[in-house]
Amino acid sequence: MAFPQQFMDELMARSDIVDVVGTYVPLVSKGGSYWGCCPFHSEKTPSFHVLQDKQIYYCFGCKKGGGVVNFVMEEENLSFPEAVRFLAKRAGMEVPEDETDREAGRYRQRLLDLNREAARFYYQTLQQPEGQGVRDYLERRKISRPTAVKFGMGASPDSWDALLLAMTKKGYSKRELLDAGLVVQNKNGRLYDKFRNRLMLPVIDTRGDVVAFGSRVLDRSEPKYMNSSETPVYSKRRVLYGLNLAKKTKRPNIILCEGNLDIVTLHQAGFDNAVASMGTALTVEQTRLLSRFTKELVLCYDNDNAGKIATERALQILNNSEFSVKVLQLPRRLVDGEYVKQDADDFIKFQGPDAFERLLSGSENGVEFRMAQVAAKYDLSDDEARIAYCAEVSELLSSLPGAVEREVYTVRAAELARITPEAMKLEVQRSFKRRSARERRAELRRDLNPAASLQPKERALRYENLRSARAEEGVLRLLLLDEGLFPPQAPLREDEFSSPLLGKVFSLLWQAHSQGRSVSLNALTGVLTPEEMSHITSVCQQPESARNGARALADYINIIRREAEKRAGGDIDPLLAATEKYKDKKGTGGKQS
Ligand code: UTP
Ligand code: MN
Repeated sequence: MAFPQQFMDELMARSDIVDVVGTYVPLVSKGGSYWGCCPFHSEKTPSFHVLQDKQIYYCFGCKKGGGVVNFVMEEENLSFPEAVRFLAKRAGMEVPEDETDREAGRYRQRLLDLNREAARFYYQTLQQPEGQGVRDYLERRKISRPTAVKFGMGASPDSWDALLLAMTKKGYSKRELLDAGLVVQNKNGRLYDKFRNRLMLPVIDTRGDVVAFGSRVLDRSEPKYMNSSETPVYSKRRVLYGLNLAKKTKRPNIILCEGNLDIVTLHQAGFDNAVASMGTALTVEQTRLLSRFTKELVLCYDNDNAGKIATERALQILNNSEFSVKVLQLPRRLVDGEYVKQDADDFIKFQGPDAFERLLSGSENGVEFRMAQVAAKYDLSDDEARIAYCAEVSELLSSLPGAVEREVYTVRAAELARITPEAMKLEVQRSFKRRSARERRAELRRDLNPAASLQPKERALRYENLRSARAEEGVLRLLLLDEGLFPPQAPLREDEFSSPLLGKVFSLLWQAHSQGRSVSLNALTGVLTPEEMSHITSVCQQPESARNGARALADYINIIRREAEKRAGGDIDPLLAATEKYKDKKGTGGKQS
């Protein structure tokens, strides 16, 4: 996706970063730049910095940064082209589309229209005589008609080609039906309906588009659930079943479940804040999506082992996020003297909505869940196991950031292990000291080796040669600071940079300069990943003086060349080698656009 440069330049000129960020985050001007509380992680003292002259933002806390487009991508959960369109709309500019993009956009829309037609077809089938099987099934599951309507439920006929024929009649092609995942092809090339004789559950995104279908068999045959495959309009990592409805809830939080029908039952029982990840593990993309609608999540996975593992995974993903997270643990149900697994749907059916409401208001936070997980590992009637439990749980307790929280849970753990709170406290303190000592040592190592703190946060971007990387960073800073510093000929080749990322940025800046385009970080947004962009921003917001800039630039270049020669094993005349290779490169016509 490439937007014309002239358009991007004008868009950037009309999208001042302070204006744009200021509509989301209150900013205070201080010493020539702006500060606010970071919208990407929770904090009480501002570490979010906006530099108007450089048109960049950078958070010293979570180390996210970039230009105005990055900000919109992150904050509005958009892709690069979507963020550009968003800003263009804001600036009242028309987006020039090239023909292939327009074509792709039209095709996506066509698939969405097809999905909507298919949903309508299934919905109508449900009301007709052929829908009897599904209607009976809904009755067995106690799903009322208004609920079925609200979720746009339908029935796929017990036929190999009912949908295929109906959609073909409406003018949809075989290719479109295949691409939308509604129809599949057998070995002989014959097409047939993917969903047959099933309860159909359209998956609707937060814009209201039907992006996919989930479906359930009516009996005990397999597979129980069948969902659309990934298509040009459906990426399961980015969608949550029921969020189109839950986003309008008046409740303060959103409940996350495993299954589609859990959601249906919960909404019917008045919990209109429930969504499902449709049997897959919670993804980062889904948490970003959720963050647009709530700051509080309640995990309500099944109470079997798989559900516990899923909960632990979700807690890991949500750790250090801006969400406050609670875990709602459903009790097991006693059937004929045996405890059986329950999901939200079962619980509502057997215990009723009031009981669920009580569980919801009493649901534990992540700490309680983790403590229970630790306790479950030990047989606390055994002395040795009690000792081992104390050791493990004190590790967990000592990692809690708040003193009050630590105290409260320490007392609770002591009760469980049947030891005095004082003894438990001592254990936690010891563990706390060990932990702090570990952290202090790590910090000291960092301080003694300031270079380590220069390393990018992302492991994949780590510098191999710090001496060279520092000089490479200096070159980029200087060139961005003062375009007058660009020498008439490229002073370095991309492969002389020890860091591939810094080399790439250098090439891009050089290219922009030699084509007479504006040299700024904003020009990199479409080319670099958000992580790369964050790192480059952190590099560029560091101080660098333009005084004696030419001199400093020459020094940096020398360091980079020397280090590059060392890597090459070089006893070659550096200047000669450099000019030779530069000629080569010019001969092959530069790099990417
Ligand atoms: P469960 O097997 O826990 O089903 O799968 P459930 O929701 O309790 O189903 P009912 O109550 O028997 O109808 C949880 C979710 O995992 C996905 C579905 O989204 C389901 O809702 N799943 C499950 C699949 O995608 N495929 C399967 O074969 C099973
Ligand atoms: Mn179920």
